[in-house]
Order: sequence, then structure tokens, then C-alpha cells
Amino acid sequence: MKLIVGSDHAGYPIKEKVSAFLQERGIAVEDVGTYGEESVDYTDFGKKVARKVSDGTFERGILICGTGLGMSMVANRFRGVRAALANDLFSAIMSRRHNDSNILVMGGRLIGDMLALQLVETWLDTPFDGGRHQRRMEKIDID
Ligand code: RB5
Repeated sequence: MKLIVGSDHAGYPIKEKVSAFLQERGIAVEDVGTYGEESVDYTDFGKKVARKVSDGTFERGILICGTGLGMSMVANRFRGVRAALANDLFSAIMSRRHNDSNILVMGGRLIGDMLALQLVETWLDTPFDGGRHQRRMEKIDID
């Protein structure tokens, strides 16, 4: 699987850790930035990732800002994107099992490095349950 990742300045330190972790696991990563701790707008980076998940260029993506709130608001405006704000393991697991989330969003100011890596690993390894959740998931986008 090839993943696309992005963050603002508040998510940058964790994005770097996440990218390195994914590459160590042999997963190819496209990093759309930001590339430092200078203040930037989370909206710009959320759109870059969500657009390429929405158009099918990437199957899954990861976004990190300070709280995760802004990134999830932006990403979920894109058709076909199911961005899950998950700063705890139960949410990360259930976002895959019941919602088939295709973007994991984390709040870099709320979680530590180790939890972030555990969230990413768990989210990547948890399959969608399908069944009744498939029908519900298909009703998410506005007709
Ligand atoms: C940046 O200060 C902060 O507002 C941003 O990272 C994010 O938390 C927005 O939702």
C-alpha cells in the first residue's frame, strides 16, 4: 500500500515520526508537507491529502494538526473521504471496522509519539467488517 501524509506545523513532529515508521515497515509514503515548524494553514495540507484520496490516487492517507479537528473538517468535505479523528485506539479500530475510514486524523498536541505510531499500526492492520456496515458506509456521501 502507498500512503499520503500531511500535517501543519503543530502536527509536523509526529508526521516525521509516522513517515519514518511507515518507511521502516516498507510502506511507500508521499509526504505533502509541511516540512518544518513555521506556522502554516492546516487547510492547505488537509486539502492536498484529501483530494488525492477522493480521486483515488491514494487508497489511504494520514493527517495531523494540533487537535485533529481542523484537518478532519477539511478532509470530510471531499467526496468519498471518510476521515476519522482518532486519538485513542478504540476509535482507530472502530473507524476501520465499522466506517472503513480512509484517512486517519490525529491531534499532535494531544498524543505522544508512541501512541501515534500505535494508532497508525492498528489503523493500517484493522480490516473493514463489511456486511451491514457496507450499506451504511455507502449512505455517507450526500446524494
Ligand atoms: C494551529 O495552531 C491549530 O489551530 C491547528 O493545528 C489545528 O489544531 C486546527 O484545527
